[in-house]
Amino acid sequence: MRALVIPRFGGPDILEIQEVTDPHAGPDQTVVKVEAGGLNFADLMTTEGGYAGTPKPPLTAGREFAGVEIATGKRVMGYTQWAAFAEKTAGQRSLLWPVPNEWSAEQAAAFPVNFFTAYFAYWKAGLIDKPAGTRVLIQAVAGGVGTAAVQIGKILGIEMYGTSSSDDKLGRVRELGLQHGINYKKQDYQDSIKELTHGEGVDAVFEMLGGEHVTKAAKCVRDFGRIIVYGAATGQPPMLDTRILYARGASVHGLWLSYLSRNTTLMNMAWQQLSQWLQEGKLHPVIGQVFPLQEARAAYALLQAGKNYGKIVLKIS
Ligand SMILES: NC(=O)c1ccc[n+]([C@@H]2O[C@H](COP(=O)([O-])OP(=O)(O)OC[C@H]3O[C@@H](n4cnc5c(N)ncnc54)[C@H](OP(=O)(O)O)[C@@H]3O)[C@@H](O)[C@H]2O)c1
Repeated sequence: MRALVIPRFGGPDILEIQEVTDPHAGPDQTVVKVEAGGLNFADLMTTEGGYAGTPKPPLTAGREFAGVEIATGKRVMGYTQWAAFAEKTAGQRSLLWPVPNEWSAEQAAAFPVNFFTAYFAYWKAGLIDKPAGTRVLIQAVAGGVGTAAVQIGKILGIEMYGTSSSDDKLGRVRELGLQHGINYKKQDYQDSIKELTHGEGVDAVFEMLGGEHVTKAAKCVRDFGRIIVYGAATGQPPMLDTRILYARGASVHGLWLSYLSRNTTLMNMAWQQLSQWLQEGKLHPVIGQVFPLQEARAAYALLQAGKNYGKIVLKIS
C-alpha cells in the first residue's frame, strides 16, 4: 500500500510516498481503509524529530484519519499517534468513532484532534458548566483547535476573545460565533483584553504559543483564572513568572491529547458530550484546504507558514 513516510528527520521536505507493507491489527485494533487524514501541528514537529515519543525513522506520518473499517464496512474517524497517512491503518478500537451520515471523509478526518482538544481545554478550565458570560481568550482562534473551541464556546454560552494575525481570518471566525477578534499584528492582545473586559480580565486562556506568551496569558486572567497550556507554536520554551499567579489565585493546567487519549474513561466522557452535540448538528469541522496525498509537502508547508484557516486535510484514497 502507499504511505506518507518520514525516512529521516529534516522537516516536511524529506517526506516521501513509499510502498510499504499492509498493517496488522493488534489485539484491540482493527484495520481501516483510510480515505482522508487531518494534518496537525504535531505532524510538522514529527518530521523535524521534535515531537515527544516519536519512534526512530523510517515511520509513517499522520495522527488522525477517516475511512471505512474493513471488517464491518462502517465509516469511522480515528486518532492514533503515527501511521494515519496511508491507504490502510490499524486503529485502536477505543479511539474510533462513527462518522455522522452527512459528513464527507474530509470533514470526519478534521474532527478528532481539534474537537477533543478544544473540549478538554474547556473541561480543564472548569468552564463546561459555568454561567453564561464567562470569558475565555483563545490563541490562534482561526486555526484547527481555535475554530473548534469557538464552536464549543458558542454552545456553552461563553464570551470569547480570540487572536489571529489576519483580519480576514478573524472575520470568518466571527461567523462561527467569536464575539471579540484581536489582530495581534495591530494591537497587543494583553492591552486589548484589559480594555475589552474593563480591566477585569478573562476566566481562562487557551495558550499554545509558548515563550513570553505564558506570562502574558497569566496577566490576562482575572481572580482564580486558569491558563490551559497545550502547545508552543513559536518554538520558544514557555516562560512564566509564577509570582503573577499568587496575586490572583490563578493556576496553570497542562493539556496533551496524546496522553489523555490513553485514558478510556476520560475519552468516553468527552465523546458522550461531543456526540450529543454532533447529533444536534452543532459541530462542523472547518476545513481550510484539501490536498491530494502526493502534494503532502505543500500541505505541510502551508501549515508551517501559518497561513491556513481551519484544518488542512490530505485526501488519501
Ligand atoms: N496539547 C495537545 O494535545 C494539542 C492538540 C492539538 C494541537 N496542539 C497545539 O495547538 C497549536 C495549534 O494547533 P492547530 O492544529 O490548531 O494549528 P493551526 O490550525 O495550524 O493553528 C496554528 C496557527 O497559530 C497561529 N500562530 C500564531 N503565532 C504563531 C507562530 N509563531 N507560529 C506558528 N503559528 C502561529 C497562526 O494563525 P494566525 O496567523 O491566525 O495567528 C497559525 O495558523 C499547536 O501548537 C499544536 O501543537 C496541541
